[in-house]
Amino acid sequence: MLNASYRRRGSGVPGVATLLFAFAIGCGALYAQKPTVAPKTFGDDYVGSDMCQVCHEDNYNNVTHTNAHRVIETDPRYGFQGHVCEACHGPGAKHASTGDIAFIRFPSKLSAAETDKMCLNCHLNQPTHAGRIQSTHAKNAVSCPSCHKMHVDGGKLLVARKNEDVNRLCESCHANVKAQFEMPFRHRIPENAMKCVDCHNPHGTVRPTMVQTFAASEPGCLQCHGDKRGPFTFEHAPVKFDGCTACHEQHGSANPRMLIRPNVRQVCLECHANMPAAVPGESLAMGVVPPAIHNLNSPIYQNCTVCHQKLHGSYVDRFLIK
Ligand code: HEC
Ligand code: HEC
Ligand code: HEC
Ligand code: HEC
Ligand code: HEC
Ligand code: HEC
Ligand code: HEC
Ligand code: HEC
Ligand code: HEC
Ligand code: HEC
Repeated sequence: MLNASYRRRGSGVPGVATLLFAFAIGCGALYAQKPTVAPKTFGDDYVGSDMCQVCHEDNYNNVTHTNAHRVIETDPRYGFQGHVCEACHGPGAKHASTGDIAFIRFPSKLSAAETDKMCLNCHLNQPTHAGRIQSTHAKNAVSCPSCHKMHVDGGKLLVARKNEDVNRLCESCHANVKAQFEMPFRHRIPENAMKCVDCHNPHGTVRPTMVQTFAASEPGCLQCHGDKRGPFTFEHAPVKFDGCTACHEQHGSANPRMLIRPNVRQVCLECHANMPAAVPGESLAMGVVPPAIHNLNSPIYQNCTVCHQKLHGSYVDRFLIK
């Protein structure tokens, strides 16, 4: 029924996505715990946070007071009690006695992968995706501190949560996407009525393009547009198989309803038309061809959704009319 060309924008075999997701849930359950490492005994190469405070008062104050990592300084479960600075910066005795930066671990001197390791030492295998580095960001050398500022503003920028903070962070690198949200029909990102992470997980997901998932591995769109979810008695195949972006621009569009074409008819006829193919006698139709009653020259039949109102799926009508 669905040939290869029809599935051109498909997002992979659903079965595989489901399996992957089940696996991810399994891992999540196994490791559903706060980030910890094994208790540590400190050799001579370690010096303790009090010593760092002597020369780095500001960093010391924000890490031990405002930053979420302050628990490491006091709670033995994290393995670095009294050594919070060295949990990330590595053993610091030599640096502390000389003030020489050659002897201290610092992100700008490390590769992105090494920097990620600095964090994943504790954040590996967390219940959220944060501890798994199969994201496009990790693969493109966008390391954790590019988005998580440790000491800036007293540690308040450690993690962006407010809509406007997240959007500004993402837009700082994705200027082209920012422009897509300036189209006439769009999601309300510029007003900060929603945020990029409503639809994306910057740490990666089981779906392509780091798109958020909803209830198992379904597209995150359904979290807000639940009426399009079904299951319907009569599904419209592309909604389930291609996903919403078969017909909609996800960010913004010049066309009403954020459609990929200026009017509805063009969207439908892209699949439901009896176009002749290169092979004589074969047709390019990807869905079924509208029956003969459809006189496409007549204005009555041009506005498909006047009749096919339930084009996202219907509970009662095979032809998606009601
Ligand atoms: C005797 C003073 C002194 C002590 C103690 C000290 N530092 Fe430093 N640290 C410095 C100086 C000086 C610099 C260079 C600052 C600059 O260039 O602005 C520096 C720079 C750094 C940097 C930045 C490295 C870079 O490449 O730019 C880090 C990270 C750092 N220190 C961490 C620590 C940690 C962690 C401790 C405790 C284990 C510590 N420091 C203890 C003096 C000290
Ligand atoms: C959770 C990991 C982590 C901990 C804990 C941590 N740092 Fe940092 N530190 C970083 C990262 C990452 C940077 C790079 C800049 C950034 O992201 O803010 C950095 C940068 C620095 C710098 C360079 C100058 C600056 O302010 O950016 C100094 C100095 C420093 N840290 C000292 C300390 C001291 C002292 C402590 C303990 C009180 C400490 N750090 C605890 C991760 C950490
Ligand atoms: C020694 C272990 C350890 C290391 C290394 C570490 N973290 Fe953490 N991180 C923690 C703990 C513990 C918490 C607090 C968890 C909690 O409160 O549930 C935390 C919390 C966080 C949070 C969440 C803050 C919030 O408000 O939800 C972020 C973001 C974070 N860390 C990023 C990083 C980054 C980026 C690095 C590397 C530069 C890093 N961490 C290195 C242990 C660590
Ligand atoms: C492209 C930006 C970006 C990168 C790279 C990134 N993060 Fe995040 N991270 C975020 C944002 C934004 C949030 C807040 C997500 C939310 O509120 O839904 C977050 C949240 C978190 C949290 C809080 C728990 C959670 O899932 O909400 C932790 C812990 C964390 N990140 C750790 C990491 C670690 C470790 C790395 C590196 C392996 C990393 N992050 C890389 C943007 C990023
Ligand atoms: C420090 C720069 C930087 C920041 C900040 C950043 N990104 Fe990215 N992002 C990249 C790079 C580099 C790529 C890979 C190249 C590309 O596709 O443009 C990428 C790719 C992506 C992709 C495409 C994924 C794919 O598989 O094709 C998405 C989606 C994305 N980022 C979302 C976000 C979101 C959401 C945020 C904010 C939480 C964010 N980015 C913040 C640099 C950044
Ligand atoms: C309404 C949900 C939604 C919102 C909000 C959203 N995205 Fe996306 N984005 C998607 C979907 C879905 C795709 C995948 C489209 C596809 O592959 O068919 C995507 C693709 C992308 C891509 C890769 C392709 C491209 O267009 O360059 C990047 C990068 C990206 N988004 C970044 C962002 C950033 C940055 C923000 C916030 C400013 C954001 N997105 C907000 C749903 C969303
Ligand atoms: C966080 C909630 C949320 C998510 C997730 C979300 N949307 Fe939306 N969407 C909205 C809201 C709210 C509006 C109405 C915007 C307005 O009033 O301007 C909207 C509007 C739309 C419209 C235009 C409706 C119209 O009447 O013109 C389309 C089409 C749409 N979304 C498709 C999608 C697709 C496709 C996805 C997934 C890629 C998605 N949405 C994800 C909240 C969401
Ligand atoms: C086969 C093409 C197609 C697919 C796939 C599709 N849509 Fe639509 N959608 C349309 C068309 C066409 C309209 C405009 C209907 C009209 O104007 O009468 C529309 C309208 C909408 C609207 C606004 C009007 C309403 O009914 O609420 C939303 C929201 C929406 N779609 C969300 C989604 C979501 C979410 C998905 C994925 C689950 C999706 N669409 C998949 C073609 C599609
Ligand atoms: C991406 C390709 C695609 C687009 C775009 C598309 N369709 Fe479909 N449509 C299909 C496929 C595939 C089927 C299932 C055909 C089958 O069951 O053999 C289908 C089924 C249908 C059916 C039910 C036919 C039946 O016999 O069960 C109707 C009615 C329909 N589409 C109308 C529309 C309308 C109206 C639009 C425009 C809003 C549209 N379609 C857009 C691919 C598409
Ligand atoms: C005036 C109402 C009306 C309009 C407008 C309309 N249709 Fe239909 N369509 C129907 C009816 C009624 C049927 C069921 C025909 C039947 O019972 O055989 C149908 C059936 C279909 C089928 C299913 C054919 C099959 O054999 O399974 C497709 C595909 C279809 N229409 C596509 C379209 C497209 C594309 C448009 C816009 C160009 C459109 N329709 C406009 C009333 C309409």
